[in-house]
Amino acid sequence: MVSPEYNHAMSPALANLLNHFGSSLFAYKPSAIVTYSAGQWGGLRAAVGMRTFLSELGCLPVSAMIHVPKAQDEFLENGNVLDNAKQDAWQNYFARTFRQLVWWAEAAKQQRVALDPHALVEDFKRDPSQRNAP
Ligand SMILES: Cc1cc2nc3c(=O)[nH]c(=O)nc-3n(C[C@H](O)[C@H](O)[C@H](O)COP(=O)(O)O)c2cc1C
Repeated sequence: MVSPEYNHAMSPALANLLNHFGSSLFAYKPSAIVTYSAGQWGGLRAAVGMRTFLSELGCLPVSAMIHVPKAQDEFLENGNVLDNAKQDAWQNYFARTFRQLVWWAEAAKQQRVALDPHALVEDFKRDPSQRNAP
């Protein structure tokens, strides 16, 4: 999930898209959070909110996140780095997150085949009150 930081939150366009399709499409699949901003924190505050949001969708974020501060000084529009001396450092930084994501994605894929989570968990069909405590 790639997002800029707007008012310490994820992009409203991304939130709208996730809300539109809802959890059924995203549940039981892992995600990785990638944020960027013009300022020095790289969208970290948006990322904290994204963890909660994605967890509610059942699209659990892996622990390693990617944050790109001052994105306009680091990457060109085509995705290439501006400073070639930092190419390896960026690649290693991204790779840690993506390796976690691939590990969890492969594990989840195998388990979804072995046991259909929607059949096991009995997703609510009417409204969220169906999962209330007694
Ligand atoms: C309405 C608005 C709110 C923003 N809020 C933040 C913010 O809270 N923190 C931050 O670091 N940058 C903030 N920015 C700067 C954006 O992160 C920066 O402009 C980024 O490049 C936007 O991504 P985009 O060009 O892909 O839309 C904000 C920009 C806008 C237009």
